[in-house]
Amino acid sequence: MGENGMGQGGLPLLLGVMGDPIIHSKSPAIHGAALAACGIDGKYVPLHVKANQLEEAIKGIRALGFRGVNVTVPHKVEVMKYLDHLDDGARYIGAVNTIVNDEGRLIGYNTDGIGYIRSLQEEVVPDLSGKSVLVLGSGGAARGIIYALLLQKPRSVVVANRTEQKAKELATDLSHLGNIAGCGMDRVKEYIQGIDVVINTTSVGMFPNIEEMPIDPDLIPNGIIVSDLIYNPLKTELLRHAELKGCQIHNGLGMFLYQGAYAFEYWTGCSAPIDFMRKAVMDSLH
Ligand code: ATR
Repeated sequence: MGENGMGQGGLPLLLGVMGDPIIHSKSPAIHGAALAACGIDGKYVPLHVKANQLEEAIKGIRALGFRGVNVTVPHKVEVMKYLDHLDDGARYIGAVNTIVNDEGRLIGYNTDGIGYIRSLQEEVVPDLSGKSVLVLGSGGAARGIIYALLLQKPRSVVVANRTEQKAKELATDLSHLGNIAGCGMDRVKEYIQGIDVVINTTSVGMFPNIEEMPIDPDLIPNGIIVSDLIYNPLKTELLRHAELKGCQIHNGLGMFLYQGAYAFEYWTGCSAPIDFMRKAVMDSLH
């Protein structure tokens, strides 16, 4: 990157997001707002990349002088083999959502999990150390979140999943980072007492199936923290029930914003203007 957040040789800083489909991505909105708020001459563009053109597209980052890109569905795993280096988080999680072009060397990061944890800390629970956390679901999103969560030294993490085997595998994979156990979703009632934070990482309750919930809400203890990665709708049925039980609630909008904030900071070296980014995504939702 050149001086003053500009691209090389005084050209605009080139950024983008690769995915298929890509037309509905909100990333151009948040990064466009962030570039403008920081006074950086840059462009962040949606890039429609099919799976069979991913390798060529990644080479194009270097050839075209992009400073970096985000990578979204369906390329987050596949893209790893075309990069020059992976940071520890991306390697543990097994997926990349952010690429930094460091003078031709492509470095892969995963900012989803750390973005989620930063949003949880900024918005509801500043200190996660010593907390007991129940994570519902054990897919790609859960893996990133649990990786970042264990770095905060919680007392314990239980991961519950419809397919019990996947929860157990995830717990085994990350067990060297902290106290974690896996179980089937049917055993949540045994584990949920004494839990401080519940995090839903499953897609249950997402538009259009907004009446669904990943667990029986009667199981949720009064007054704890309940977080849902979903942000369409902003308040899922799970969060609505949790609020009625006096819980503090947290939705997935912050995860989206802060995964973008980390990426923006990696690319530009500037602190992400989170309020401008939040306004941009809220405007684009309406
Ligand atoms: P993501 O990257 O968003 O985590 P994923 O890797 O496909 O997506 O994982 C989806 C998660 O949601 C899984 O934990 C999945 O449970 P299974 O492993 O049993 O498939 C969970 N999930 C999806 N639909 C579900 C449903 N109707 N009921 C319960 N869990 C569901």
